[in-house]
Amino acid sequence: MTTQLDIPRQTTRRPMTIPTLAQMKAAGEPIVMVTAYDYPSAQVAEEAGVDLVLCGDTAAMTVLGYDSTVPVTMTEMLVLASAVRRGLRTPLLVGDLPFGSYERSDKQAVKNAQRFVKEAGCDAVKLERGGVSAQRARAIVDAGIPVMGHVGLTPQTAGMLGGFKTQGKTAAAAAKILSEARALQEAGCFALVFESIPAAATELIVPHVDIPIIGIGAGPATDGQVLVLHDLLGITRGRVPSFVKKYADVREHMLHGVSSYVADVRERRYPAPEHCYPMNSAELAELRQLLAS
Ligand code: KIV
Repeated sequence: MTTQLDIPRQTTRRPMTIPTLAQMKAAGEPIVMVTAYDYPSAQVAEEAGVDLVLCGDTAAMTVLGYDSTVPVTMTEMLVLASAVRRGLRTPLLVGDLPFGSYERSDKQAVKNAQRFVKEAGCDAVKLERGGVSAQRARAIVDAGIPVMGHVGLTPQTAGMLGGFKTQGKTAAAAAKILSEARALQEAGCFALVFESIPAAATELIVPHVDIPIIGIGAGPATDGQVLVLHDLLGITRGRVPSFVKKYADVREHMLHGVSSYVADVRERRYPAPEHCYPMNSAELAELRQLLAS
């Protein structure tokens, strides 16, 4: 069985820490985060040298086939995050608290954050929105678990925001994002995700926040960027948000590979002699005799 120890040591990088992220922000060094939902993708993130890996609730759509992030459960997230953990050494692993796993009470939030740490080996957790989420973030931080906040477009409650739309498009809406960001910072969050916010608004907000801000569809002024792995690799089928840059066409390669296999089996081109186990000729002769009698 493959274990974490089988990961090739591509770099001599030291495990990422929260103080290092703060230093990167201070030094103006871009922070790279990517999502991952399984062991091989985590290995790829490790070898590619990312700083943070988010086992995001986008797993609901990318790998579990749900229509939105809402249905994914803690149990499902823990299975995925544990697999990611086994593929990582260096990046900080953030487990995404799914919808319904932290809103009810501080007690519920702490319990589920602890599950990410104890059962899946996550280094930190992420939750969405300001408001009461800032209080939940404080409770989790007080329990000794680092928390990443998430403002702007918050997919778990996109319905309340009028759908999957850019947030902070008016001065008042952008100011509200800043106040939520500051509340999360006050609550002890070590970093924030800014999602789907006009680049110009982000640029004005960033200097008013002290903790690292990782953007997704929020322009270049953030301290780092995050993309959903399946979007950047071109695994996602159909439309992706316009802020996504597609770095590969993995779905096409997968489709080509599986279609070629289908054709080979149907045309009896696979398996070829090189894919077959040999048998000792004397044993084969004996087997023929046995079967003939
Ligand atoms: O769940 C997720 O993948 C996220 C990113 C989009 C930041 O929250």
